[in-house]
Amino acid sequence: MTVTKRVWWKDGVVYQIYPASFKDSNNDGLGDIPGIISKIDYIKDLGIDIVWVSPMYDSPQHDMGYDISNYEAVYAPYGTVADMEELIEACHSRGMRLILDLVINHTSDEHKWFEESRSSKDNLKRDWYIWRPAKYDKDGKRMPPNNWRSFFSGSTWEWDEHTQEYYLHLFAKQQPDLNWENPEARKAIYDSAMEFWLKKGVDGFRVDTVNMYSKGTSLPDAPIIDAGVFEQPAPGLFCNGPRMHEFLREMNTQVLSKYDTMTVGELPHTPDPAHVLRYVGSGDKQLDMVFQFDIVDLGIGKTHKYEYEGYQLPELKQVVSKWQKFIEGSDGWTTAFCENHDQGRSVSRFASDAPEFRERSSKMLAIMMCAMTGTLFVYQGQEIGMINAPKDWPIEDYKDIESINYYNSVKARGGDEKALAHVMKSIQILGRDHARLPMQWDASPYAGFTGKKDGAWMRTNDSYKEINVANQTEDPNSVLNFWRKMIKMRKEYRDVFIHGAFEGYDVENRDTFVFSKTKGESRVVVVLNFTGRESGFERPKELGGKWELLVSSAEGVDGTERLGAYEGRIYTVN
Ligand code: NOJ
Repeated sequence: MTVTKRVWWKDGVVYQIYPASFKDSNNDGLGDIPGIISKIDYIKDLGIDIVWVSPMYDSPQHDMGYDISNYEAVYAPYGTVADMEELIEACHSRGMRLILDLVINHTSDEHKWFEESRSSKDNLKRDWYIWRPAKYDKDGKRMPPNNWRSFFSGSTWEWDEHTQEYYLHLFAKQQPDLNWENPEARKAIYDSAMEFWLKKGVDGFRVDTVNMYSKGTSLPDAPIIDAGVFEQPAPGLFCNGPRMHEFLREMNTQVLSKYDTMTVGELPHTPDPAHVLRYVGSGDKQLDMVFQFDIVDLGIGKTHKYEYEGYQLPELKQVVSKWQKFIEGSDGWTTAFCENHDQGRSVSRFASDAPEFRERSSKMLAIMMCAMTGTLFVYQGQEIGMINAPKDWPIEDYKDIESINYYNSVKARGGDEKALAHVMKSIQILGRDHARLPMQWDASPYAGFTGKKDGAWMRTNDSYKEINVANQTEDPNSVLNFWRKMIKMRKEYRDVFIHGAFEGYDVENRDTFVFSKTKGESRVVVVLNFTGRESGFERPKELGGKWELLVSSAEGVDGTERLGAYEGRIYTVN
């Protein structure tokens, strides 16, 4: 039996905001904090309890703010610390909480800590980052300390002419990794990145790349899986290192235990449920919950994400089931999410964004997500069924460092037209930019996101005239109003939806997804059609009793065991 200690962050629904793309209040083409404040009642009306703001800190923006140059300042085009104080108050006065992104695996290379660290080998902060001498090959050519490939392509090592050593960066070269082995560096991180904001009243953090702080100290070469290039994927070597759990316990003891917070860690490359439980078990005080990525990683390439391979519905069912069930019988907690700022839009990825199916698809996925165990996360625009950019956008319209660097690296290694077309197809499905296109508020130019004459910082999705908040607000059958209804229902049926035990049926079926959620005497059965045609479903024999339709995503449902295209339903079964 799951030990369900009730705390606010378990039943709460979280709404993630990507500041650059949410709402521009001063017509400079970029979203900002006052823009968020102007939409706070919209968020509240959706039924949201917790607002998560992606990095709004000062940054040279090589990775959209995940390269922080000052934890205690706000990126000027987004606003000021005073604006953040106003946002905290705007959330609190409406009964909502606010969490921030905590990006502490690395800083920007323009952070003053790194500027000091790179100034000389004997600087007091030299050891706050990870420096190593060069290696030399048999011809005497200078080589990096190992063959690790960065998440953004190329080596994880950058040569520093001035001090004649390499520094480590798992992401862009402008994002040097902090050295968590150094206790002074850890203390400075706790003070500057965490306490500064906790004292202002923030209610917790989404913790970026939470399992990469401890990398060990030997940093060995990765095995070769991508022949023909020097740099090799190495997450198995730098994720979940030897001191990871110790560091998180320390962070709790020294900082988080003094406040009433929630933490949700980003936990990639961790497929073993027993291992994930070590992070989220409540007794061990490490993290309250994590994002495990199997669902959004469905179909990604083996050598690189943007070598997309595709997947079949049974695989989706299998990963959902695995990560719904893994906390059962433990005191740990989990999350339910299928979008964020690093993913393609869920309608385009998991269902259909064809004009005739996209509304149905959005509602069907809303049913699936709202019935899931764990804290629910909704990403801006998901609630109106925003979709991926059209397939005819050229690579020049994409802005994200991850897509562009990979595309260029395939080109540089002589990739032919076919190879580049495959990368492009993968980006059309998985690209991080899809989630970063301006929020679609209305049908006016640039989707009502900005009043700037020549538009927003990022191209607006061509679909904005049909898919936008204004259109959907008044329409009782809109995707937006369906999400509102489902969030309300999730809270009404919180025992079974949020805290129930999950069971899947007919798992090999490639068309439909049928699962039940049970808590005590209460049971619901969720049936979802993942195809663009009618599909029958069978009532699982073991689920006898009286079936009553609680909700359907289709109008005029006929009550039989046939689902319309991309229809979802929930039955109560007693
Ligand atoms: C994960 C974030 O979600 C992503 O956007 C970012 O690029 C990396 N971590 C590096 O901070």
